[in-house]
Amino acid sequence: MKAEPCTYVIFGATGNLSRIKLMPALYRLDAAGRLPEGTRIMAMGRRPWDQQKWRQEVQDMVQAKAKDDFDEAVFQRFSDRLYYHQGDISQADCYSGLAQTLADKAFSQNIAFYLSISPADFGPVMSMLSTNDLFNEESGWRRVIIEKPFGYDLESAQALQKRISHYLSEEQIYRIDHYLGKGMVQNVLVFRFANVMLEPLWNRNYIDHIQITHSESIGIDSRGDYYDGAGALRDMLQSHLLQLLTLVTMEPPVSMEAESLRDEKVKVLKSIRPISKEAVHAQAFRGQYAKGMVNNEKVKGYLDEANIPQSSTTETYASMKLYIDNWRWRGVPFYMRTGKRMAKAQSTISICFRHPPLQFFRDTNVQCMNPNWVLLGIQPEECIRIEMTVKEPGLEMSTRTSSLDASFRNQDEKAVDAYEDLLLDVLKGDRSLFLRFDEVEYAWRIVDPILQSWAVERDYIATYPAGSWGPEDSRLFDKESQSWRSSL
Ligand code: BG6
Repeated sequence: MKAEPCTYVIFGATGNLSRIKLMPALYRLDAAGRLPEGTRIMAMGRRPWDQQKWRQEVQDMVQAKAKDDFDEAVFQRFSDRLYYHQGDISQADCYSGLAQTLADKAFSQNIAFYLSISPADFGPVMSMLSTNDLFNEESGWRRVIIEKPFGYDLESAQALQKRISHYLSEEQIYRIDHYLGKGMVQNVLVFRFANVMLEPLWNRNYIDHIQITHSESIGIDSRGDYYDGAGALRDMLQSHLLQLLTLVTMEPPVSMEAESLRDEKVKVLKSIRPISKEAVHAQAFRGQYAKGMVNNEKVKGYLDEANIPQSSTTETYASMKLYIDNWRWRGVPFYMRTGKRMAKAQSTISICFRHPPLQFFRDTNVQCMNPNWVLLGIQPEECIRIEMTVKEPGLEMSTRTSSLDASFRNQDEKAVDAYEDLLLDVLKGDRSLFLRFDEVEYAWRIVDPILQSWAVERDYIATYPAGSWGPEDSRLFDKESQSWRSSL
């Protein structure tokens, strides 16, 4: 698919996501020569800025990120693409002004609206874009990129979908989950389906259990307002971690084309055994960070962060156990956890294989053998590692664990940010790395019973010291031999 020139209209352009991710990613696409000629970027902002001030702001954002890679000449070219439309997005005149500006020949009539705004504003913004005829595709395509969270629970997600499908067809909607733009996440599919060695073992006959960990050492920064209403289950598990789970467990798709890929992911989500109200206690766990030490620095507890009520029981750590009731996975537990202010920042999928049926070395002085693990390091270390048992050199028949590594990126190869990939896909009209509504819907179905239970149990939440691996939640594990694996 070929990238076509377009006008990116970014709602929430002065916000955090735009500063840290969107603008730097667009700049890097330009630097790599991947932004088609004629591509323009229109920022929507309330602040009383003009074009010049906005371009200066973007230069600061890009420079902060690019550091030594910042290139004046590239930025000059990029800067010429930048425009600023000042207005209050809750007011109708903001949209009539926008429609007038975009009608100018300088702007490509392929328009992508990027909604990096509060979910509560998605519906009203779309309604006003539609009223001002901005979704009319007569002169070019119209696409809308919607940041997560898509809804607050199953019911609100369905209501939001109902509202937006009034204005847009499914082909125009790009629901973003930036994890799908990460190179190592895409590599999970390549690893599984471009190699035959492990695929025959990738099932309940050989795999004991699978763990997915996303831990962060940062806290909630200045996102208290959003985070306290969301919590770790909505913020990470319902979206990013369940997506990782689908990629690691799905059947081979018919092709890499968007619908085939999404069909297979949805099949996995549909096969997840629903968690009954009674099972929530056994299958899900939550915690909140208290003060502690992170990277040798004292940090405050969640309740002392800005904009957090003293009585908050919002979870900053969530873990859960799921089962996929299909032929491939029946009986295999999947353990997933995520948390802020944990010991280390790391995202890993860890696949633990069963022990061999017989330990031939039982009568020798061989130590108890470790099972084989396949470790998929998503970040910061991007790797595929297979742990095998080998003989220790020497006269004794003893063993140790040795790893086979398939590295993802060599030192001289540059990292590509997830948003670069996804923003380019929008220009190509490739939706394979974006979510179809039924994926979002089934993901909400999975976590909704937990959310409902936790919503009424508001008098107690376990705590964990900042800088630790989270609260003690070993009750989730099916067997004594299973426990969280934190090392890669
Ligand atoms: C976002 C969450 O979607 O993902 C954040 O809202 C989280 O709370 C972030 O920190 C993690 O993304 P990444 O790419 O830094 O792992």
